[in-house]
Amino acid sequence: MNKILLKSQITIFIFDSGVGGISIYNQIKKIFPEIYFIYLLDNQFFPYGIKSKNYIFKRCIKILKQISYYYHFSLAIIACNTASVSSLPIIQNYFSFPIIGVTPVINDAINKTNNGVIGIVATKTTLENYSIKKKIKYYSKNYIIKTLSSKKLVLLSEEKIQGLNISLKQIKKIFNPWYKLKNFPDTIVLGCTHFPLIINELKKILPENITFLYSNDYIISEINKIITNNRFSFNIQKNIILYTKHNLKIEKIKKYLFHLGFNVFKKFKIK
Ligand code: DGL
Repeated sequence: MNKILLKSQITIFIFDSGVGGISIYNQIKKIFPEIYFIYLLDNQFFPYGIKSKNYIFKRCIKILKQISYYYHFSLAIIACNTASVSSLPIIQNYFSFPIIGVTPVINDAINKTNNGVIGIVATKTTLENYSIKKKIKYYSKNYIIKTLSSKKLVLLSEEKIQGLNISLKQIKKIFNPWYKLKNFPDTIVLGCTHFPLIINELKKILPENITFLYSNDYIISEINKIITNNRFSFNIQKNIILYTKHNLKIEKIKKYLFHLGFNVFKKFKIK
């Protein structure tokens, strides 16, 4: 997709439990280089993927309420599948600004698969979500859909961004159950925003010619819709990282985030 230049000034608030939302940020920056960002890493509550829907829903409300009190932004992105399936669409009724979320792109995988075997990798909470389960059940009448939840894969993605060497052997082990299938999925939905960050590692250890799908196109088209239908005039002229807990990991990832264009780092306590 080509770069889109803005007619108005846009600042996006984006959040995730950790660095997963960076996969969404990278995609948006590629298409909309003039947008500025406030990115909240809710590392105090990391990981989201093993917490209950209700708990995550309440956390999302708190985050959006407190951030929108202190910062001006044009729209918010819940850059986390776990938080999106746990809070959307209801959370949109709580706020006056537009909110976009990401959910596993199962429909796209149905259109893409050739061998009829689809894999979905996501967190436990995402895969246990009622509407996700319902969708999988519906498509399972005509397709083989295999799911895999792995907290370890989320941790490995975080470690990569911290600059640590991650073991391909360990990643491969996570996918062991799929090697026992008659046919390996030819289409894999990365239903967690952390996983596109390790796509090169996944490509190295999984069979060749797999199509990996995630919410990148969806996010771009939603932003495009919102900016064509609204007039914004707020631009913070910098990219800010907020984190909910200070620790060594934050120090380790600062360098990486700085190279991506973030120049302000601050602790922000969610009360
Ligand atoms: N990045 C989050 C997602 O897309 C999950 C990470 C976590 O478990 O906190 O679901």
